[in-house]
Amino acid sequence: MRRRIMAANWKMYKNAAQTTNYFEQFKPLLANSNSPARCDIVIFPTSLSVPAAVVAAAGSSISIGGQNIYWERKGAFTGEVSGEMLHAAGATWVIVGHSERRQYFGETDGAVLKKTQSALEAGLNPIICVGERLEEHKSGKTAEVLVRQFAGGIAGLTEEQFSKVAIAYEPVWAIGTGQSATPHIAADAHRLIRSEADKRFGQEAAQAVRILYGGSVKPDNIEGFMRQDEIDGSLVGGASLDPQSFAKIVGAA
Ligand code: PGA
Repeated sequence: MRRRIMAANWKMYKNAAQTTNYFEQFKPLLANSNSPARCDIVIFPTSLSVPAAVVAAAGSSISIGGQNIYWERKGAFTGEVSGEMLHAAGATWVIVGHSERRQYFGETDGAVLKKTQSALEAGLNPIICVGERLEEHKSGKTAEVLVRQFAGGIAGLTEEQFSKVAIAYEPVWAIGTGQSATPHIAADAHRLIRSEADKRFGQEAAQAVRILYGGSVKPDNIEGFMRQDEIDGSLVGGASLDPQSFAKIVGAA
């Protein structure tokens, strides 16, 4: 079985002091569980809170990641942060192509590919997000969208690069809406993504890649997702902001 990843995407919440406070509460909740032995736990604060999170997570098995990078290493790109900078701050993961980045900041599949390549060059583990919008879901275009996002953003990686990424299936209609996909819908989407990976990178690579589900995951619905062999963990937004709630989710891995 693939080792699961339980990830917290904090989005634009929590300053450095609030980050430190969160870890003070979260770490003891993990101490009495065997979750850290069973899964990778990754927390994605804002770039500004990454250093505080790195300090607070020291000595635990929790890894820290950034929510976005720019693909250039350095230069005149006002407002951007590079993979190298994130890595130097102690992050080991990065989210690429989150639907909020695609929707509000115009991120394309081509940008997702460049950011993923640059993350890998910087020594970061990327979680690449894909997922269909509500109207695409309603009009039965989920498969078409996932195939297109895979082809445009992931298929351009080399086999070696692909072996280092994880993928998150996050249907846009389920993000922050309280309306999660059913475990069955998610597992179907995961199978489709895995079959695209198989076509492009071969069976071994496709079986090894970890595919997470994200979109309104909560302590009371995580178990249904975790019962699906196809679902290798979760990328959790709102329900990860509270340490008790995220600890319960991690406990289901
Ligand atoms: P949500 O967000 O859990 O609040 O729906 C998930 C995400 O955007 O990664």
